[in-house]
Amino acid sequence: MKTMPYAAIGAHYAVHLPAPDDFAFWRERARALIQCDIPPDRVSWVEPGMTGDLFGGEALMPTDRRLPAPPSDAPPVRANRRFLGVAAKAALHSDPTRFALLYRVLWRLQRKPRLMEDRADPDVRRLEELDKSVRRDAHKMHAFVRFREVADEDGAPHFVAWFEPDHHIVRAEAAFFMRRFANMRWSILTPRGSVHWDGETMREGPPARREDAPGGDPVEDLWRSYYASIFNPARLKVSAMLSEMPKKYWKNLPEAELIPALIAGAQAREAAMVAAGERAERAAPATWDDLTAQLAACRDCPIANCGTHMVMGEGPRQAPLMIVGEQPGDMEDRAGRVFVGPAGQVLDEHLARAGIDRQAAYLTNAVKHFKFIWRGKHRLHQTPTAKEVDTCRWWLEAERALVRPRLVLALGASAARSLLGRTVSVNRERGRAIPLDDGAELWITAHPSYLLRLEGAARAEQAARFAADLALVHERLSALAG
Ligand code: URA
Repeated sequence: MKTMPYAAIGAHYAVHLPAPDDFAFWRERARALIQCDIPPDRVSWVEPGMTGDLFGGEALMPTDRRLPAPPSDAPPVRANRRFLGVAAKAALHSDPTRFALLYRVLWRLQRKPRLMEDRADPDVRRLEELDKSVRRDAHKMHAFVRFREVADEDGAPHFVAWFEPDHHIVRAEAAFFMRRFANMRWSILTPRGSVHWDGETMREGPPARREDAPGGDPVEDLWRSYYASIFNPARLKVSAMLSEMPKKYWKNLPEAELIPALIAGAQAREAAMVAAGERAERAAPATWDDLTAQLAACRDCPIANCGTHMVMGEGPRQAPLMIVGEQPGDMEDRAGRVFVGPAGQVLDEHLARAGIDRQAAYLTNAVKHFKFIWRGKHRLHQTPTAKEVDTCRWWLEAERALVRPRLVLALGASAARSLLGRTVSVNRERGRAIPLDDGAELWITAHPSYLLRLEGAARAEQAARFAADLALVHERLSALAG
């Protein structure tokens, strides 16, 4: 007989989760429990491997029993995007009480739909702490996983890394490494489980031990020279570095052994380092100052070397709406500000007509430098290549991680590619929400400069379509805010 995931001790129900990171399972069961009107103090959430201690001893360890089916006329469960975004991350935390907290908040949201806006509420605060700590762990994993090269049975190179996450993030973060190292065969081994990528499919494996991972090899030398080239003595702050790169990670980082020497020789190396400017794997910037400084120093693609300025995004740091253009134009490059030229004017007019407040949105570009060719005295805009868009994508992801908008509006194909990581047809994708991996919604429309290139009836037609897209975005923003 199939074991039901619910259990009861008297009037007390328990849900046995199949895996500690199974948010989808929690969500489905939590909905059913809410619809059965089971209050939080009558539910226990049990993860694999949990002992009776958490419930006050073996005698109180919940056992299985069927939960009544939700009544057919039960009202739908309310869960706004803000809650779902935070909850999906918080569910990965190692705190054993996290699922109970999530259920308590979901229960309370049915009675107080704006609960998530109450930052003084202890449950909301705790949920945000969990969310933040999981994001930080993921950031560390992105930055500190180091692959060692071994040979597969068929002799092909296979890259293996060891990492010790604080939370249950391994399965969730596997997609990041899949995107970044799509063509490599790799494995990430951790004490919480492993993931293996063969270039086509992802496979999960059991927890590993440190000894299962290989030791040093030439990839380490590569990392060492890499790290030495990106280490920036001009911005050296030892305390900040330690908080970004806690010592507990050092043992797994081949380049960490360089740190004392690099610190000692920092000033002498400064001039040479500033000039070096090589393509580098960087830790995702955790603050706006870091992002701006790192972006200003970026020379990862040829556009950055063509004499223009880096134009940073601008707008409120927690804006619910992020608008992404293609790249700064001539006027933006001169002013150092996004969307201040002719395309910006068209955008402003349409935003105002749609009732979208530009000042409340964060505006940025897929590519942060102006790409152009000289025609006489004029600098003519050049569309960035897909490779340039992809190279700059890392920065847009860093901006999104800091702003965390609920809705992202992509203007044109370059912006859409940057956000989705693949080329899409604007006409086919416009006018509907596309889910992004962080829970935000992506909406795609044309670039305002496209309208500027048209005339007469064609322009009027495209302007109407653009206006219709913005009207939908406005409607959706209002719904998300409510
Ligand atoms: N076009 C864009 O895509 N971005 C700007 O900032 C200006 C024009």
